[in-house]
Amino acid sequence: MDIPKLGLGTMGIDDPATIETAIEMGYRHLDTAQIYDNEAAVGDGIDRAGVDRDDLVVATKLWIDQLDRVRESTEESLDRLGLDRVDVLYVHRPKGEYDPEATLAALDELREDGIADAVAVSNFEVGDLDRFRDVLGRAPAANQIEYHPLFQPADRLADARDHDYPLVAYSPLAGGEARDVDAVVEVADRHGVTPEQASLAWLLEKGIHPIPKASSREHLEANRAALDIDLDADDVEAIDGIERENELYPE
Ligand SMILES: NC(=O)c1ccc[n+]([C@@H]2O[C@H](COP(=O)([O-])OP(=O)(O)OC[C@H]3O[C@@H](n4cnc5c(N)ncnc54)[C@H](OP(=O)(O)O)[C@@H]3O)[C@@H](O)[C@H]2O)c1
Repeated sequence: MDIPKLGLGTMGIDDPATIETAIEMGYRHLDTAQIYDNEAAVGDGIDRAGVDRDDLVVATKLWIDQLDRVRESTEESLDRLGLDRVDVLYVHRPKGEYDPEATLAALDELREDGIADAVAVSNFEVGDLDRFRDVLGRAPAANQIEYHPLFQPADRLADARDHDYPLVAYSPLAGGEARDVDAVVEVADRHGVTPEQASLAWLLEKGIHPIPKASSREHLEANRAALDIDLDADDVEAIDGIERENELYPE
């Protein structure tokens, strides 16, 4: 699965103009979900931007009460998005109506039918990932989890590396809290960048795919600029070593 290094998280973005601006700026990976209630706005923004559909990676997620009606629910998402396929279709959480055999078989059928290019998971623990591999005989196309300087789940990063699939980091700026963490501020100051950019550069250096949410042009641009920051091993180690922990989305 070819997921761009940096994407746009869209939770809380309801204005199609923001999506359009992001695409014009070069964002090619757009992350939405049924539960964000903004698939229509994301679809409008994609339509307005008018770029080649094949150049975009559009991801949505089936909410936990939809996992026993995968085909119908995905078709409803596609209607809202105004698209005939998504690139990445996630199980949002392994909860609610999630039944590994039935849900994953239904998702895989959509992949075979070309409705979803790839079947992926979100908020999966290592046990859930093992079960996925048992059922479908392969790794998921991605695992999207909370990952930022204040929450670094090493077991999930190791699983992604061992089984060779991308780890997508949600809330990569710790929802805005990264700017208050000393080690992040020190790395940022060394490179003349903001703490938010340092957080993204740290994730990129580790081969993780962050999807920061940003609604202003200034933030959208600043986050894209993180692609050009080169951190050295000491910088990565300094942020890796942060001991303060703050999980924003605990179970
Ligand atoms: N799979 C899941 O269960 C799950 C759960 C949570 C989130 N997500 C995904 O992850 C995405 C991002 O997570 P998130 O929205 O929780 O948090 P986040 O990306 O860590 O932080 C977003 C916050 O940081 C601000 N910000 C963005 N760029 C900035 C910059 N360069 N400088 C200063 N502030 C900046 C934003 O402000 P402005 O909006 O004002 O620009 C917003 O307040 C979501 O949109 C969603 O797509 C997935």
